[in-house]
Amino acid sequence: MTSDPGDADTSLVEGAMERITEAGSLDALAAVEADLLGKRSELARSQKALGALDPDERRAAGQRLQGVRRQIEAAVAGRRAALEDGARAERLAADRLDLTEVLEAPWRGHLHLVQRTRDELEDVFVGMGFAVAEGPEVETDWYNFEALNMPPAHPARGMWDTLYLKLGEPETVVLRTHTSPVQIRLMQSQAPPIYAVMPGRCYRRDTPDARHIPTFNQIEGLVVDRGISFADLAGTIETFTTAYFGPDIHSRLRPSYFPFTEPSAEFEITCTICGGPGCRTCSQTGWIELGGCGMVDPAVLGAVGLDDERWSGFAFGFGIDRCAQMRHQIPDMRVLLENDARLLRQI
Ligand code: FA5
Repeated sequence: MTSDPGDADTSLVEGAMERITEAGSLDALAAVEADLLGKRSELARSQKALGALDPDERRAAGQRLQGVRRQIEAAVAGRRAALEDGARAERLAADRLDLTEVLEAPWRGHLHLVQRTRDELEDVFVGMGFAVAEGPEVETDWYNFEALNMPPAHPARGMWDTLYLKLGEPETVVLRTHTSPVQIRLMQSQAPPIYAVMPGRCYRRDTPDARHIPTFNQIEGLVVDRGISFADLAGTIETFTTAYFGPDIHSRLRPSYFPFTEPSAEFEITCTICGGPGCRTCSQTGWIELGGCGMVDPAVLGAVGLDDERWSGFAFGFGIDRCAQMRHQIPDMRVLLENDARLLRQI
């Protein structure tokens, strides 16, 4: 010990701190710790030598040396914690899974565009308070034609030439040409007021072209209540167009003829392929027909036993494939049936 015990302690602590900081591993730190605090350390020797001092000196020197020991112990503990943290971090880094080696997730596919369009159209109408109903794809002549005011040999049947099934009497069972027969089934099964849409598949002997395919989908709409007017029909169609196609697409109703509505109209929107000037898809007209509509003919209400003095209504039938074609600007509808995986991934 030097003559000033305080100086000796300071240099002992400083030297100890330096060695502790420099210890680069837990093993090295253990060796330093044994050197500084162990039985043969300078500190232990000094503490042993306390016995030779007189009681007063011994107490003072003992307290001082104990303070030095505590400082060194605290520094060793701190350094050990730091080295352990570092070692744990290294272990974790070495053990970490290399996720980039995981194989690419398999492609999961998605619903076909036409099904998605059907779901979206249903959502729009459900949002407007309509219920959703369905009917069979194989119909009797009565539901597909007669109850819709088209008796046998009615010339309008020619517009919807279809495929007959050999089930019983010839030409009495058909693959339905439109979803309008579901109107009849609904009016038979529930009393007005009726606010419903009826989506489903239809069949026609149509030659495939840019706007036609032989198996396609329609969504029928039917409202029967008291005091329904053509304004209600026009407002419903307007609301639907804006909700589904957005505010930039214009629509128009053009006078037309359907045996089951009076008056009748065709509902058209601006062709989204050319935007108006005319193209192959819209046959150079700038407009695309989405469907037919009109006020339910009293003869149809009569076919299901409803009093046309009490009830009135409107109906419409839109092509779902046509809506998908216009919304997604598909120049030729036939691609919807081609099952080309490259196209299906995109739409
Ligand atoms: C009808 O089918 C009527 N039932 C619509 C109706 C319902 C009128 C209720 C009045 C009241 P139309 O044959 O025009 O009408 O067909 C309606 C829509 O179905 C067409 O505008 C078109 O969007 C779609 N469509 C018709 N035929 C085809 C086809 N071959 N391929 C794709 N879509 C078609």
